[in-house]
Amino acid sequence: MKKLSPIFLSGNGTSRFLECPVIQSPLAGVSDQIFRKFVRRWSPKALLFTEMVNAKSLELGHGVEKVIELSEESGPIGVQLFDHRPNSMVDAAIKAESSGAFLIDINMGCPVKKIAKKGGGSALLKEPELAKLIVNKVSKAISIPVTVKIRLGWCEDTSNPVAFALGLQEAGAQLITVHGRTRSQGFSGYANWEAISKIKKSLDIPVIANGDIKNSRDAIQCLEITNADGVMIGRASMGAPWLVGQIDEEIKNQKTFKPPDAKMKVSLCLEHLKLLVSKKGNHGLLIARKHMNWTCRDFEGAYSLRHKLIRASTPKDAIKLLEDELIKFN
Ligand SMILES: Cc1cc2nc3c(=O)[nH]c(=O)nc-3n(C[C@H](O)[C@H](O)[C@H](O)COP(=O)(O)O)c2cc1C
Repeated sequence: MKKLSPIFLSGNGTSRFLECPVIQSPLAGVSDQIFRKFVRRWSPKALLFTEMVNAKSLELGHGVEKVIELSEESGPIGVQLFDHRPNSMVDAAIKAESSGAFLIDINMGCPVKKIAKKGGGSALLKEPELAKLIVNKVSKAISIPVTVKIRLGWCEDTSNPVAFALGLQEAGAQLITVHGRTRSQGFSGYANWEAISKIKKSLDIPVIANGDIKNSRDAIQCLEITNADGVMIGRASMGAPWLVGQIDEEIKNQKTFKPPDAKMKVSLCLEHLKLLVSKKGNHGLLIARKHMNWTCRDFEGAYSLRHKLIRASTPKDAIKLLEDELIKFN
């Protein structure tokens, strides 16, 4: 495998180095501050992302906490913004920069109808001139680097991802992450790593490959095919906040990383639940359920524990279940 180098990003005044070529993807509804805290435990230097933030909401003062929280966190954290209005994106990017964002990422891949219908996310794949204008305006307005996350196009028939990515580079993007699917594919089929390799070949700026990387074997294969500068890990990290650190360590040192055992997974669930409940009260349990459901896997008794956790109707009950489970390991 080719040796990966640190990634250099030159902003409009503030340059950045990414020491770790394995990146945690932005995941709406998942990659909140508490999730990032766990990812950070295994990946002190990896680039992590906020969940995507609506530039319009930021303008109106909603969703501000997603950005303000950054100042409390260590390591590089990118703020991902979405909207189709250049001025709104500029305002939001300025706010995010002043809150301590490591870089600003512009979402041009989100397939969610509600967002694309208004012209944001993946809808920008159909509007290359507008996409370029947004990147150009945002990169001139802030000093930190501007990056873009794209898919291969809106649909296969009309897409020219190389031309689209070249346009973004020309407009000032400092790095492009490519999820190797079109918008019309949603999450079906397989990510097209060959198509990412064509984009990588054509650009001078770093390219990050994304889509269907679940372990270090996938990451190595993807890097071989795409020749990308790094990889981004999405769904496979849900419930496995150690995965970015694991893949990084395994591809760098070819050592076999020891992922958390059953006891560690249960204590991770307990810690996650307690943090969510202390931040969000009873609603924290609802959020914690999905994380616990993803994390409680691949150990004896995991199925039954998951089943009980789903039924726990109060944070106190769920905490007791996990504490009782931990006693069994002693
Ligand atoms: C629950 C969920 C939330 C997501 N939220 C975002 C998001 O906020 N911004 C974004 O650019 N992509 C988002 N994505 C897409 C992922 O970042 C990633 O590009 C995609 O899942 C493909 O990578 P994977 O195969 O490693 O999951 C989301 C995906 C999922 C499943």
